[in-house]
Amino acid sequence: MIDSSFSGVRLIEVEKTYGEIDSERVVALDRVSVSFREGERTAIEGKSGSGKSTLLNLLGGLDRPTSGRIEVGDRAIDRLKPDELARYRLEKIGMIFQSYNLIPSRTAVQNVELPLIVAGVCKNDRRERAVKALEKVGLGKRLNHRPDQLSGGESQRVAIARALINAPRVVLADEPTGNLDSATARAVVDMLVEQVAASRACLIVVTHDRDLARRSAERLIRIEDGSIVEDYYI
Ligand SMILES: Nc1ncnc2c1ncn2[C@@H]1O[C@H](COP(=O)(O)OP(=O)(O)O)[C@@H](O)[C@H]1O
Ligand SMILES: [Mg+2]
Repeated sequence: MIDSSFSGVRLIEVEKTYGEIDSERVVALDRVSVSFREGERTAIEGKSGSGKSTLLNLLGGLDRPTSGRIEVGDRAIDRLKPDELARYRLEKIGMIFQSYNLIPSRTAVQNVELPLIVAGVCKNDRRERAVKALEKVGLGKRLNHRPDQLSGGESQRVAIARALINAPRVVLADEPTGNLDSATARAVVDMLVEQVAASRACLIVVTHDRDLARRSAERLIRIEDGSIVEDYYI
């Protein structure tokens, strides 16, 4: 599913406001323009409420901008119909969240298989791919554990394996180590970077931790009140 014409991600004058009534209107993103090159690794930092998750969710197609344009490769994703957007998410995007978002009743391997089921991959192939993906993140011995039988670091590694299983071109991680101790956080970030680098995907990581930002990225963006106030290569 790798798109050979892929050449990064671009936001043009993207605005996101919440709330219908003027008095309740929140400008979560204020006409942000920014590009991310293919294979580029960027960390985004900023105070709580500054618009980091809003930016990631728009890129991930979980939400739509109020105005402006979002291009992934040569496609404008703000114009996609709901079914096209779902397909875009499935094929091009891998998302990782602070709280892992694993399905509690499913085992590690079943969680990793889910995107393959949606993509229509046959049973034998998807099991084989899910097992390989878990082996790559060091969880070959945890295939049949459920999330409540896994540590935080292990859970996040399952979530990484799941996010990367369809070879996404863009990997979005929203405070992926927010629930982990610092040694585990470093190990998880290193693993994420290694896997993403191997696939030349574009990685955007939101993190509060400057050390982890430097560990995961070559570029640092700081957001304040819905605007990019700093953007530089480390
Ligand atoms: N669904 C929503 N409805 C209304 N306001 C929202 C919603 N989501 C986020 N916001 C507001 O938008 C701003 C940015 O939120 P968010 O992107 O989640 O910030 P961050 O991830 O940087 O903490 C905040 O003021 C938040 O309260
Ligand atoms: Mg957030």
